[in-house]
Amino acid sequence: MVQDRVPLGIVGLDRMIEGGIPKGRIVIVVGGPGTGKTLLGMQFVINGIKDYNENGIFVSLEENKRHLYQAMNRFSWDLNKLEKSGKFTFVDASPIRRSPGEVKIGKYVVGKRDFSMLGFINTIEQLADSTEAARIVVDPLATLIFQYADLYERRNAFLDLMESLTATGATCMVTMEAPTQSTKDFVEEEYLAHGTIVMQRMQIGRAMTRVIQIRKMRMTAADDQPRPYKIDESGINVFADETLF
Ligand SMILES: Nc1ncnc2c1ncn2[C@@H]1O[C@H](COP(=O)(O)OP(=O)(O)OP(=O)(O)O)[C@@H](O)[C@H]1O
Ligand SMILES: [Mg+2]
Repeated sequence: MVQDRVPLGIVGLDRMIEGGIPKGRIVIVVGGPGTGKTLLGMQFVINGIKDYNENGIFVSLEENKRHLYQAMNRFSWDLNKLEKSGKFTFVDASPIRRSPGEVKIGKYVVGKRDFSMLGFINTIEQLADSTEAARIVVDPLATLIFQYADLYERRNAFLDLMESLTATGATCMVTMEAPTQSTKDFVEEEYLAHGTIVMQRMQIGRAMTRVIQIRKMRMTAADDQPRPYKIDESGINVFADETLF
């Protein structure tokens, strides 16, 4: 039996993963700067609201609300309007970076002297519950977990986050910067997540091409070939029938 799917609403990409992300699962989007991770997350949430009547939460750890909303206007997505409808919830979690001191997200205190992952998690859980969110995006994850220098602690922090995201029942996407050290080309968290989507720029012939690849998608007969994608006024478009070479 094929697991229930939650479509991203990006036709080419959905086709690569049998219609969408397995319902209730967590997918990591890994990519270099400017590859479109934030955009992909936004499209996932906005398409959910517009096409599938599913509420969504976007947790932003880096970009502030004003800048992000402005950037999304470019794609004719009016986030203020979606927010007023109650279907879209924006969480500005950037105060986390400003610890120590009391750390707050909206009205929630998530840490006293320094950031607590548990506090963050509680906040997300409460919001997911009160807004009945079916889709949650955390963008980007690095800010959250790189404060744990120890690999074991970092792994545990990520597992805690995964566990609570899973408990919400929502289908989730977390973004992650691609590793810059050349010793390995994946991030540790990929082992733990249910799926990984990789976005990158590649030189093909003389041209730079944007390329997307499903590196992992549990329970899915995924197309694992790199496929080209474009970003234009309509957002991200994936060309699932095109090969690169
Ligand atoms: N109207 C447009 N037409 C074409 N490309 C666009 C348009 N608007 C934005 N872009 C491109 O989309 C990308 C924005 O992607 P986004 O901010 O989602 O990337 P990101 O991977 O989240 O980057 P970062 O790592 O800096 O957070 C940029 O590379 C930008 O050039
Ligand atoms: Mg981004």
